Amino acid sequence: MTLLRFKNQSIRQRLTFIIMAVSCVSVLLTTLAISIIGVYNLRANIIDELDVSASIVGDRNSAALSFGADYKEQAENNLNVFSVKRTIIQSCLYDKDGGLFARYVSVEYEGKRLCPDNLSERAVIGGEHIEIMKHILKAQDKIGYIYIESTLEQIDKYIEKQTSIALLVSVFSMVLAYFLAVSLQRSISRPILSLAETAKQVSQRKDYSIRAAAIGDAKEEQNNELVILTDSFNEMLTEIGARETQLKKQNVALEKAKDAAESANRAKSQFLANISHELRTPLNAIIGFSSILMNQLFGALGNEKYLEYAHDINESGAHLLNIINDILDLSKAEAGKLALSYEEVHVGKAIQKCVTILSERAQKGQVTINADVPKMLPPLMADRLRFIQIILNVLSNAIKFTAESGKVDITARLREENGGASDFIITIEDTGIGMSREDVDKAFQSFGQVDSGLNRKYEGTGLGLPLTKKLMELHYGVIAIASEVGKGTCVTLTFPAVPLVEVAMENE
Ligand SMILES: Nc1ncnc2c1ncn2[C@@H]1O[C@H](COP(=O)(O)OP(=O)(O)O)[C@@H](O)[C@H]1O
Ligand SMILES: [Mg+2]
Repeated sequence: MTLLRFKNQSIRQRLTFIIMAVSCVSVLLTTLAISIIGVYNLRANIIDELDVSASIVGDRNSAALSFGADYKEQAENNLNVFSVKRTIIQSCLYDKDGGLFARYVSVEYEGKRLCPDNLSERAVIGGEHIEIMKHILKAQDKIGYIYIESTLEQIDKYIEKQTSIALLVSVFSMVLAYFLAVSLQRSISRPILSLAETAKQVSQRKDYSIRAAAIGDAKEEQNNELVILTDSFNEMLTEIGARETQLKKQNVALEKAKDAAESANRAKSQFLANISHELRTPLNAIIGFSSILMNQLFGALGNEKYLEYAHDINESGAHLLNIINDILDLSKAEAGKLALSYEEVHVGKAIQKCVTILSERAQKGQVTINADVPKMLPPLMADRLRFIQIILNVLSNAIKFTAESGKVDITARLREENGGASDFIITIEDTGIGMSREDVDKAFQSFGQVDSGLNRKYEGTGLGLPLTKKLMELHYGVIAIASEVGKGTCVTLTFPAVPLVEVAMENE
């Protein structure tokens, strides 16, 4: 059974085994069938032979039987012819009344056998011997009976001989079958082995120019699956090779395009960083001097209009500075150059600070801000200034996009995690104009202001949310926006309990 499972056998071994198994089984079955037929024929022959012998001996003794007891000796002499046949056990001659007239018994069976009483005509092959009983007739009259018993030796010998011949033939056919199988299996196994070897070579060397050795023409030998298999396999390799070449070309082109895009992006970031820096210096002067004018540090300005203009200059300058700062931060973050300095941040205080900064703006828009921060919150590991920047961005949006008499709720809480560490969850929810799902995606793109016509009246650059997202990512945190048009927006900021950067450093 284990042999038949063919678990780890090569195709050569399998084919050899199959061919041998089939031929051996057929040889065995044939010899078995021949032997059985032989035995049956032999039995019939033996019976025939005994029958003829019985008839002849019966005939020869008919005179003796007719003349009576005086001729017993002659009859016994007649029966003695059986002594030349070793297989005859005994022979009994009965007179017409069934009385024993003469008998022959072989030396070997002397005293071991009796003549049977049953005189009915029969020819029987038993387990150990063959017996035949025949009536002796003379001119239609029954004048006596003849009985012959023979051993089965002849049949036993035949079976013995037949078995050894069968064994010999089987051994000879096995040897022959083996050599035949070994040579015949080649026509099937060779192409398959060649295919397997080619496939192995191709996968090892990644060389698609290798081909399996052709064994014929698939167009001419359409019934030969092996030829078709080899041909198709080679065609497949050609196709893969062509695709591989094409893919490589495309990859090179893509790589070039990617390099170009990356260098353009780097140039953009570099340009932004430079220009932001160059712009900030004069702007600081504008803001500083307008503030001096506004505060009339060197005496009254005289005309009210000058004071108003100085105020405008200062406000516009501050606004421009904010935009430039955002651009600079964003390009730094995109270039991976924005580094955080972690410290323990008191979340409650930081949020309160943001609320204070924006309270004037909220009052102007008649928006109420409710901050609900538990007193017992542990400190958050974060960059304090960036944390405040994040909250300011989101909170200023909430105020900006909420109509009069709306409200904004800020909450902060801990979310218990399985491992014992807990994430910081901060939510900023407003009752403002809201956004659709697509708008939320758009809002996260740089300069991605949602253009609904409605918010045209809201000033801004569309840099706040992309920057906030970047800053959250730098903190290994997540920003999620749930919003519904006309109902409001809820921004959820999740900060991991221990910044992963620290965990990573500890593990190093
Ligand atoms: N709380 C909010 N409610 C409604 N819309 C919002 C809200 N926050 C952001 N948005 C939308 O997302 C856009 C991008 O926001 P942001 O990046 O902060 O840019 P900005 O504030 O400069 O417009 C906004 O222009 C606005 O359309
Ligand atoms: Mg904004």
